[in-house]
Amino acid sequence: MPVPGPGYSITIRVEAPPSASVAGDLTSAVGRVGGVITAFDVVDSHSDSVVIDITCNALSADHARDITEALRGLPDVEVRKVSDRTFLVHLGGKIEVNAKIALRNRDDLSRAYTPGVARICQAIAENPDDARRLTIKRNTVAVVTDGSAVLGLGNIGPAAALPVMEGKAALFKKFAGVDAWPVCLDTQDTEEIIRAVELIACVYGGINLEDIAAPRCFEIERRLREKLDIPVFHDDQHGTAIVVVGALRNALRVVNKPMTDAKIVVCGVGAAGSAIIRLLLQRSPADIIAVDVDGIVHRDRGDTDANLQWVAANTNRENRTGRLHDALVGADVFIGVSAPNLFGADQVATMASDAIVFALANPDPEIDPLEAQKHAAVVATGRSDYPNQINNVLAFPGVFRGLLDAQARGITDAMLLAAADAIADVVDGERLNASFIVPSVFDAAVAPAVAEAVRKAAGGH
Ligand SMILES: NC(=O)c1ccc[n+]([C@@H]2O[C@H](COP(=O)([O-])OP(=O)(O)OC[C@H]3O[C@@H](n4cnc5c(N)ncnc54)[C@H](O)[C@@H]3O)[C@@H](O)[C@H]2O)c1
Repeated sequence: MPVPGPGYSITIRVEAPPSASVAGDLTSAVGRVGGVITAFDVVDSHSDSVVIDITCNALSADHARDITEALRGLPDVEVRKVSDRTFLVHLGGKIEVNAKIALRNRDDLSRAYTPGVARICQAIAENPDDARRLTIKRNTVAVVTDGSAVLGLGNIGPAAALPVMEGKAALFKKFAGVDAWPVCLDTQDTEEIIRAVELIACVYGGINLEDIAAPRCFEIERRLREKLDIPVFHDDQHGTAIVVVGALRNALRVVNKPMTDAKIVVCGVGAAGSAIIRLLLQRSPADIIAVDVDGIVHRDRGDTDANLQWVAANTNRENRTGRLHDALVGADVFIGVSAPNLFGADQVATMASDAIVFALANPDPEIDPLEAQKHAAVVATGRSDYPNQINNVLAFPGVFRGLLDAQARGITDAMLLAAADAIADVVDGERLNASFIVPSVFDAAVAPAVAEAVRKAAGGH
């Protein structure tokens, strides 16, 4: 069941009589409608009234309104102002550019800017590789989106996608010291996106594609990888695949099954599912059955989409047909990156013993994790309010740190697998159990471990 969280946190300023019972009356009113108080501050006091800031977590915007109304309904209480703390965090944006050099006097200016900078420009003109040595390129990543598949919100466009891309840039900096910058393109035309990225690529050491809808994302990534001499990484595909493969390695250790014996159902063959299937195949599982909205993907289904054709040709050894429930029978592992509430405990009971269930559809998973736990040995979700959160933050900062440090010109499956193993290895044997198959996103060991693994796989030292 969802619990009130900081994503819907509000501060309500109220003026109330200075009675002995005022604190109890206010906190009880919030509690009665299910709000969770996180701070209670008296900010002003008069002989006949007190002004109090009540900060609390709610479930949703509607729930926040219910809490406010509950306070407004108390006798002699006036609600002066309601601040949404999430909106406050976003005022003016979340990132900025800082100068790394001092500009105190004319000498500083002459070196950092004209005339001195001209010699640096000439050096790069003579030797373009010097851009990595003498400019921001060596540490800078473009976070490129067209706003077509933003979180679970769908096609909301490039401007509305910007808060997500800013957040991503902030995470890059916080977890791996990478300078990332949002590039939200006001086009959803494949050719225009490719051309736009091509035109700006000289500034960057890597391109992180983000929230671009399938199947367009596959072609954009493939063609940019062919054209550019810097790594191009679609996080919704490969970030997810890395964390899933790492988490699955540990989950299989918990239930003591080798990957080569594992029969795996992957539900969802879009951006995330396709990348998971491709990376998992490198680990040679016994079989993968892919399922999408039309049922099990098999060779006689007549799919015209190139991605689905590839999946059909490389999975489902027995060419099984049917729906998700059929695919689950006898499976060791379920990985869902599809849609909410597709099955229940009864279907998990039909899976092999010690089943592993990764239900990653956001915000509502393919199966309620509490239902899954009735028969599964290990359960993971994409949510932060359950154990085993499969979160791309475990992967992308370290991946790009490693790529930039190696001055990589491309990205390979070997690098992605190295990142997956690095994440898995952060959970040592002492800590590994059914509720702890991946490290916390705040584990400071993760990004450096991933970076080192990727740097080595990229041939860096
Ligand atoms: N770390 C994570 O937890 C994580 C990472 C990536 C994606 N996701 C989640 O996975 C889901 C899919 O993401 P995506 O970017 O790949 O989306 P997508 O739109 O590219 O693909 C969705 C896929 O799900 C399939 N699908 C839809 N309804 C279905 C149904 N009823 N039964 C079976 N299959 C169905 C579609 O056919 C398609 O193959 C989203 O909910 C997303 O939030 C979670």
